[in-house]
Amino acid sequence: MKGLILAGGKGTRLRPLTYTSAKQLVPVANKPILFYAIEALKEAGITDLGIIVGETRQEVISTTGDGSRWGVRITYIPQEAPLGLAHAVKTAQSYLGEEPFVMFLGDNLVKGGIVNFVRKFESSRPNALILLCRVPNPQEFGVAELEGGRVVRLVEKPRQPKSDLALVGVYLFDRHIFEAIDHIKPSWRGELEITDAIQYLLEAGYVVEPHMVEGWWKDTGKWEDLLEANRLVLEDLQPAMAGELLGNSCLEGRVAVEEGSRIIDSTIRGPVAIGRGATIVNSYIGPFTSLGDGVTVENSEIEHSIVMAGSTVRNLGARLEGSLIGKDVEVARNDGKPRAYRLMVGDNSRIGLL
Ligand code: DAU
Repeated sequence: MKGLILAGGKGTRLRPLTYTSAKQLVPVANKPILFYAIEALKEAGITDLGIIVGETRQEVISTTGDGSRWGVRITYIPQEAPLGLAHAVKTAQSYLGEEPFVMFLGDNLVKGGIVNFVRKFESSRPNALILLCRVPNPQEFGVAELEGGRVVRLVEKPRQPKSDLALVGVYLFDRHIFEAIDHIKPSWRGELEITDAIQYLLEAGYVVEPHMVEGWWKDTGKWEDLLEANRLVLEDLQPAMAGELLGNSCLEGRVAVEEGSRIIDSTIRGPVAIGRGATIVNSYIGPFTSLGDGVTVENSEIEHSIVMAGSTVRNLGARLEGSLIGKDVEVARNDGKPRAYRLMVGDNSRIGLL
């Protein structure tokens, strides 16, 4: 089997982060989301991976490389424009050939990996295997209707969903999916929808097997989902201390600190992940926080947040919470006169002031 990861698209719901960066490279527990998909496929024994790339291809390719660090072979497949998930699959047709494949959306995270689903597909050989998960907001996803355990209908982002079963962004297909894609038309949002292609398979009498996801699943397309994904991944963090603990500092609970980081007169209450070369001085870092490489935190408190590489948080008068801070950002208290907020903020940012 081959793997096909989709890392094109636009990422409009994650602006401003995605003005400068691919949404699949946003870090969750200090690792790009895309890497979790690569690792899940590798764990299932799939080592030939095609990655669909769009306008952020340079960054995706330079960050991910040829796959050798995971022991997989990566082929990058440019998609001319983000014309839909089914369009991306069609773009990859010559790479995929006649082989069955796992399609993995590069912004999705599935706890517990995909080994069971791949084994199930290999043993029962349906034409498609889809993963489903109950959600409170099905209108934001592809939605499946089941009868007696069989899939009867799939609708992409219905206004009035008939069930709360969302389509998870991991699909297993055999070559008949290409026939299906050739028979569908663009949807109201102008995209060739994979959901419509699977609906075609159903109508044409092909076998589409549903499978419930038992652990958690997250589509990280929106910033609150990213923080939630960060929380869920950190729940399973393995503690490791490769940095220095100096002065009156203490680590509580599960904390992972990479090389070159210094924690001075500070309390870190896990689960917390701290990247390489970070400096934490006279601060409190609370549960479910990831600090990227080279982050500096001084005289501040942070909880339930992601702070990306190279950013600085200094002298805050209140706790920073539920926040997503991009790369090389500076958040600092300003004691100069006149007393004023001084902001340099990009488009589509959100700021909550006290
Ligand atoms: O996350 C699960 C949901 O993913 C499913 O429930 C929906 O049925 C499915 O349509 C999809 O919905 P989204 O609206 O969330 O898809 P999104 O546009 O975010 O694209 C998913 C990934 O695929 C993302 O990493 C970007 C990439 N992509 C997207 C498009 C439209 C491409 O590589 N090429 C594309 O043309």
